[in-house]
Amino acid sequence: MSALMLADWIKAQQPRGTTAKAKTESVFYRNLEEELDVRRAEHSLVTLRTRRDAIDFSSNDFLSLASSGLLRMAFFDELARHPGFQLGSTGSRLLDGNNTYIEAVERELAAFHGAEAAIIVNSGYEANGAIFSAIPRPGDVVVYDELIHASVHDGLKESLALTRMSFRHNDVDDFYQALLSVRESQPMVRRGERSVIISVESVYSMDGDVCPLRELVAAAKDIFPGGNAVFVIDEAHSTGVLGPRGAGLVNALGLEKEIAIRMHTFGKALASSGAVILANDTIRTVLINHARSIIYTTAPSFPMLAGIRAAYSLLKSGMTQQAQDRVQLLVRHFFKHIVAKPVWAQANEMGILNIPLSKDWESREFVTQIVPVWTRQRYNYFLVFHLQLAKFCAFPIDFPVVPKGTSRVRLVFHATNTEAEVEGLAQAIAQWAEEMVDIEKSAKGVRIPTAARQVYSWMSAGENCNGVATANGASGANGFQHLRLTEAA
Ligand SMILES: Cc1ncc(COP(=O)(O)O)c(C=O)c1O
Repeated sequence: MSALMLADWIKAQQPRGTTAKAKTESVFYRNLEEELDVRRAEHSLVTLRTRRDAIDFSSNDFLSLASSGLLRMAFFDELARHPGFQLGSTGSRLLDGNNTYIEAVERELAAFHGAEAAIIVNSGYEANGAIFSAIPRPGDVVVYDELIHASVHDGLKESLALTRMSFRHNDVDDFYQALLSVRESQPMVRRGERSVIISVESVYSMDGDVCPLRELVAAAKDIFPGGNAVFVIDEAHSTGVLGPRGAGLVNALGLEKEIAIRMHTFGKALASSGAVILANDTIRTVLINHARSIIYTTAPSFPMLAGIRAAYSLLKSGMTQQAQDRVQLLVRHFFKHIVAKPVWAQANEMGILNIPLSKDWESREFVTQIVPVWTRQRYNYFLVFHLQLAKFCAFPIDFPVVPKGTSRVRLVFHATNTEAEVEGLAQAIAQWAEEMVDIEKSAKGVRIPTAARQVYSWMSAGENCNGVATANGASGANGFQHLRLTEAA
């Protein structure tokens, strides 16, 4: 039952570093617990959870390749073709970890995406680390969208390019200004002796919006006609879901020749793991020689590569096209239903509910599977309580994952969600919004919506939602108190 997850989560948010038990522990653990208490105080302690029997509007299994078992079948077929496979790669890519199988898969992926070369790595995190630590040379400048993924920032920490500049998210004018200021302030770049490396994502993971890539490419060409402004695009959230046979945004827009480096991850729509960096031979060779996250780790294992190859066999065969189209249909279905709700306009005006992506959805070339519902700080938890009690699985997103003051609930749509589920979700959100509108308009002082009260009452009673006493009833009540005091303020 998904509400059990809420109860567990609330319990986890109570402070530990100053409890009697903590005082008896060694300073080593106490200090760590005190550090965690900083997160708990903001209800932002991350806890690990296993999904229970709720309808999935949360996971990254966008095409439902994992849940449907389709990929499993293709994976078994791939294993059967290689009965003598060796599980581990037995070394770093530079030593024994290279083999004909990984090279063949890389060639296939490069051909599929229309790239000169490819290098497969263990994860997207590792890929971005490799790219941004190894590719920018001294004197190069890195310009990035302000919402770029954490892995790019982590890679940049090791980068030799010391000048870095962000531009406002998806804002072509601000991007233009950023490039102008680079041209002004960096004589070597202006003279075409150094490069500007531009980092963007095709679909932003917490906002679900699509990068205006054509416009950004045109702006870069305008300011640096000599071609020394180059793009690196992270296609983590467009792989499998955008473009011909899910090849991604660059392929969708026919910009293969304009983008120096593309990075696709396989842990999301392709339901396996790992990532590929698509580029030319020069970039590939630099990565093999300079990227510490490729050099100092064991090369991808056979099962991982077989999973990737199986996923691409589905893409290539066109078997995933139906799933890709269905995600488009379901997201549009959701927009149609949510904006038609009687409470929609008022909840928007009052700042209770906002779905920026629902604007102009009908005229958009493609929608994405990620739809954040913006709401007030703390209201995102109220909405999640409501959704989870209605058996819809979605999670609140808060700082530090998104900038402070931009709380939201992130909805993710999947090929196997049904129209009825999508309508039910829109109805549940509207129901919650109606309650919040009533609460805000009412003079009675009741500030907590029904679902939140329900969750809190379980905690007060020291019970989980199955009516089973928790190991420590009192601590359940404390957890509730801690959250309610802040929420009610
Ligand atoms: C935009 C983006 N880039 C990179 C990654 C990292 O990919 P992986 O999960 O394969 O490490 C993620 C995953 O969260 C992502 O959302």
